[in-house]
Amino acid sequence: MIPESKSYGEKEMYDFINDPRFAGIKPFESKVWLSSPTMHGDEQKWVDEAIQTNWVSTIGANINEVEHLMAKYMDCRYAVALSAGTAALHMAARLAGERLYGQARPNAGTLTGKKVFCSDMTFNATINPVSYENGEAVFIDTEDQTWNMDPVALSEAFNLYPDVRLIIIAHLYGTPGRMEEIKRIADEHGALIVEDAAESLGAKYKLNGRWAETGTLGNYNCISFNGNKIITGSSGGIFLTDSREDADKVRKWSTQSREAAPWYQHEEIGYNYRMSNIIAGIVRGQIPYLEEHLEAKKAIYERYKEGLKDLPVSMNPYDEEHSIPNFWVSCMIINTDAMCMSVCGEQDYLYKTEPGKSCPHEILDALTAFNAEGRPIWKPMHMQPIYRMHPFITRNGNGRAQSNAYIKETGAVDVGADIFRRGLCLPSDNKMTREQQDRIIEIIHRCFKTS
Ligand SMILES: Cc1ncc(COP(=O)(O)O)c(C=O)c1O
Repeated sequence: MIPESKSYGEKEMYDFINDPRFAGIKPFESKVWLSSPTMHGDEQKWVDEAIQTNWVSTIGANINEVEHLMAKYMDCRYAVALSAGTAALHMAARLAGERLYGQARPNAGTLTGKKVFCSDMTFNATINPVSYENGEAVFIDTEDQTWNMDPVALSEAFNLYPDVRLIIIAHLYGTPGRMEEIKRIADEHGALIVEDAAESLGAKYKLNGRWAETGTLGNYNCISFNGNKIITGSSGGIFLTDSREDADKVRKWSTQSREAAPWYQHEEIGYNYRMSNIIAGIVRGQIPYLEEHLEAKKAIYERYKEGLKDLPVSMNPYDEEHSIPNFWVSCMIINTDAMCMSVCGEQDYLYKTEPGKSCPHEILDALTAFNAEGRPIWKPMHMQPIYRMHPFITRNGNGRAQSNAYIKETGAVDVGADIFRRGLCLPSDNKMTREQQDRIIEIIHRCFKTS
């Protein structure tokens, strides 16, 4: 028996546990996480060694080794270990700004007054560095085949703003974006690319017939070792480049920009962004397990794909010919006609249960009730209150102010908003057991139950 149709949201949590639709399903005793750290033991060894040898600092053998191992794995010449992926992205945006527009005064950013084309469906850390450098992010809509920057929308953006010279692209949930098209468009306009591979370490992309790691495809490339990433140092990030000059600059800027003098002497603004040798010990211990983590994440994605195939949903897509995602977070999207009625405010939501239909918040609430962690799709940047006044470009041109009180059908598109409305991130922890994942798949099925 389906319960009487009723509206639920954060204010009134639905009682999933006692709902007959979920009869026989037990809550997980210990929480199943979205994506939590997976330690192997080597991490402790390198952290202990750092402490025993007193290299408790932002210099030391762990940092050197992390840089060496990462440059080798990524097949690039230089890796600079930093305190966070965000720091790497800031350094990347600053390097690009300086190369394009010259050195900035200490109280000004290198992108002052300049527009930068940015991925719209991403975490805010991708694009905040544009603001740190006083630039203006222009958000480029998403395409539904990779959930990343739409090259058609990017071309439209260059038609509207031909002077732009910088693009910042992220690979959402570890799925590579359409780099070949994006690089071609960038080259046509003499633009540089900052590649945010924070979520996509280990993902590969076939560029001009040759497979390469995401994180080596831009002019400036960044990776994160945040606690939820595929390998972690609890925090940390890496800046990757083939340019010796850029690597040296990031080393200098990230350690307070000291000049070659016996005393503290400065000609440039500096930052305290270097990775700690303790954090590097954890990362060093994780690197040998990257392949194992990649396999586990892929298996999770495949099991969801198989287990959900009879529902009116699909998995987050990828370009099978040109990319191998790292499957960091598995996501699903509900078919439009299988969505129950639901609305999202700025900070709350409401939905109405309907037989045979569901919506991301109902599924997320059900997962929460059974002690598993899902998450809404990262809310697109053009929908964020802080960036409300920034331009948003779709494949039809300007994406702002496209409705009209006097015209019903406007032809306006907003792919990102649609994925945000219908999609959700599924528990993707690589320690999740098969039994646990089967139970999660069953919970999702029950949300769509018809009788
Ligand atoms: C796409 C993306 N970019 C950047 C970051 C920032 O990395 P960090 O947390 O290491 O600063 C994250 C996540 O944390 C991310 O998901």
